[in-house]
Amino acid sequence: MEIIIKDTPEKVAEEILKRLKRIVHKKRHPVIGLPTGNTPKIIYKKMAEAHERGEVDFSEAIIFALDEYIGIPTDHPKSTKTYFKENLLNRIDIPEKNLFFINGTPDDIKAECRRIEEAIRDVGGIDFQLLGVGRDGHIGFNEPGSSLRSRTRVKPLTFSTIKYLSKFFGSEEDTPRFCITMGIGTIMDAKEVAIVAFGDEKKEAVKKCVEGPITSAFPASIIQMHPKARVYLDEKAASLLDEKEYYKWAYENKERMYDYLKNKKSG
Ligand code: GLP
Repeated sequence: MEIIIKDTPEKVAEEILKRLKRIVHKKRHPVIGLPTGNTPKIIYKKMAEAHERGEVDFSEAIIFALDEYIGIPTDHPKSTKTYFKENLLNRIDIPEKNLFFINGTPDDIKAECRRIEEAIRDVGGIDFQLLGVGRDGHIGFNEPGSSLRSRTRVKPLTFSTIKYLSKFFGSEEDTPRFCITMGIGTIMDAKEVAIVAFGDEKKEAVKKCVEGPITSAFPASIIQMHPKARVYLDEKAASLLDEKEYYKWAYENKERMYDYLKNKKSG
């Protein structure tokens, strides 16, 4: 794992944008998995700004949304599809055929889960999976207790997630109880994963995710098993990490190590 710590969410978002630019530069149709939530909004803003400045062209990317609530139509104000239309697709025009949103009101739920898994396989897998992390360690909507090898499927939301979401749906009774989410196994099949977290309210979650035991009780901890994983944090979210100074030193000096090797080779 590479732990990348910057002073502010703004600087963290810049680091993630740098990584996304390299991915887009390397592949004509990069397959990118994206989460909803408050955390990634600043990243989507940076992506749109860079796209509008002509620094990078995201319009040919293939986008997979991580999850969707069951029972709300895709045009619902709080659906995942609406979230992306409001936070990214209103500024980056990606053809419908390259957008894979989960249908929250399918005739056949199992078939919809299969459709997502097959779509990911048909495009050659996800190149870059961006993730937030819930305070209880959920990634996507893989709540605590999720199998660490799960696939796209229906998941019941925990009471704490329903309570947290109720402020967006107006009341607990109007808040969905179930969702369809990419599984942890689905997420871990991505070629590269990146978890991003900001603020004091995520410092305990980050501590467990990065330095805690790997356990389904805290699904985000599975990131420790991924061969190409980065954790992007602001100082507040990183504040409980025992090895914080080492992570910062390692990231800042890695570039210096490459330069040293390049100079050594060139004599
Ligand atoms: C939701 C989403 C997750 C997201 C999490 C944290 O449950 N399904 O993908 O990572 O919330 O959201 P936030 O970034 O707002 O803290």
